[in-house]
Amino acid sequence: MKLMEQIWEKAKSNKMKIVLPEGEEERNIKACEMIIKNELANIVLVGNKEKVHEMANKLGVSVEGAEIIDPETSDKTEGYAKELYELRKSKGMTIEKALKVVKDPLYFGTMMVKLNDADGMVSGAIHTTGDLLRPGLQIVKTAPGASVVSSAFIMVVPDSVYGQDGLLLFSDCAVNPNPTAEELASIAISTAETAKSLCNMEPKVAMLSFSTMGSASHELVEKVTTATKLAKEMRPDIKIDGELQLDAAIVDKVASLKAPNSPVAGKANVLIFPDLQAGNIGYKLVQRFAKAEAIGPITQGFAKPINDLSRGCSPEDIVNVVAVTSVQAQNQ
Ligand code: ACO
Repeated sequence: MKLMEQIWEKAKSNKMKIVLPEGEEERNIKACEMIIKNELANIVLVGNKEKVHEMANKLGVSVEGAEIIDPETSDKTEGYAKELYELRKSKGMTIEKALKVVKDPLYFGTMMVKLNDADGMVSGAIHTTGDLLRPGLQIVKTAPGASVVSSAFIMVVPDSVYGQDGLLLFSDCAVNPNPTAEELASIAISTAETAKSLCNMEPKVAMLSFSTMGSASHELVEKVTTATKLAKEMRPDIKIDGELQLDAAIVDKVASLKAPNSPVAGKANVLIFPDLQAGNIGYKLVQRFAKAEAIGPITQGFAKPINDLSRGCSPEDIVNVVAVTSVQAQNQ
């Protein structure tokens, strides 16, 4: 069974409630119908009821079975504003400001997740990554044990012997521009958890660098060796090793020369990049040159799952991200 089919099956086995704050938008409405038809999740559309129904009629789709909530008229709005004020008053939030902010669908959706009125949120068809992540970072915050929210791409490389028959996770390719050693350790652990929960993989995590096991010395390498040490200390149950060059991480022959005693080298299926420049360039190289499918970015490390869409997404992409978010919510 293909990976996304497995994720769909898992999502269906225990339906989660997922909020779509861009509820008046065309692709979200089309996705909503598909999700409900396939019994993938329970859906909350945030938006004006008339506008949602008008768009659904125009598209010839049904949103029957979805809950539609309008922050302008909902009886939840005032309570969410009070909670938002309590959560953010030390950061300058006032009650008046909170009443205004909470009517923004992204903040309203985030408050639903925070206060357990929804299990997860998916957005970003018409908002930037920053617009979506900011309310989540401010309100939902990180999961216990995670020091940062980060992201992973599941890379499906056709006809490849690397990773688990061409299946690998790459991180962080979308969120943290320049993580500290502590943050890099947290990213490694979060990605190992994502590999287990979404891909049923036994993670073998390589902490990537331009050096292998001390072959070069530089402050950039030192960050990776410190992160490796910290990650190993925090989670001795996970196979993590570094610092490793990319070839030593995934090619057996190179690993046997450069890192013969490593439990990860030559077999890595989770690749942790030292910063966002390397990670973002790295996943795009593999996507383009190896014609790999890049599933993501999947956000990880939030106390409850919030996932981003690309602005060029299709309704089918939204359905798949809702399935991923549901499985993440089940595991939390
Ligand atoms: N994990 C946990 N908390 C975080 C994180 C993080 N990674 N980043 C910021 N925060 C918290 C801060 O501590 C702060 O909390 P507080 O207000 O309670 O003190 C809050 O979030 C806001 O912090 P800012 O520094 O103001 O964050 P900002 O909103 O400026 O930026 C963002 C956060 C949007 C994630 C930023 O790091 C960013 O733009 N990253 C790059 C995104 C990007 O452009 N990616 C590439 C494109 S995506 C692609 O190609 C697939």
